[in-house]
Amino acid sequence: MNEERFKFYVLEIAKLDEHHHNLAEGLDKVRRELMVHDYINARSEMANLLLDLQHHYNYEEKLMLGIGYPYLESHAFEHKRLLEVAQKVKIDANSLKLLVLSELEEIIYKHTDTYDRQLADYINEENNDTK
Ligand SMILES: [Fe+2]
Ligand SMILES: [Fe+2]
Repeated sequence: MNEERFKFYVLEIAKLDEHHHNLAEGLDKVRRELMVHDYINARSEMANLLLDLQHHYNYEEKLMLGIGYPYLESHAFEHKRLLEVAQKVKIDANSLKLLVLSELEEIIYKHTDTYDRQLADYINEENNDTK
């Protein structure tokens, strides 16, 4: 993946950064398949990405619960909204196009840069042991 681009999304929380890196790679895999018009593989990579997203959001929500994070509710709501967008991409095969993927990519990165960054700042400020 584009490491230059990814560095903007590094939060200095090892597990979160590892997850986000994997998600970025997952997005890139879907993109690569779309670019060679292999829609069967693109759908399969999209299904993998969805599972990774679900797993990651569960992880973050458990983490937030564990540290008594005050903004858990709005953050989790945003995860739900994001998953709904991602699920729509999977269900309608015809929508698996680069433009749709770019939109999904943008909201995933935007989430990391806002909601997840706020969480990381909170963890770092509180000097929690979750790092
Ligand atoms: Fe995240
Ligand atoms: Fe998040």
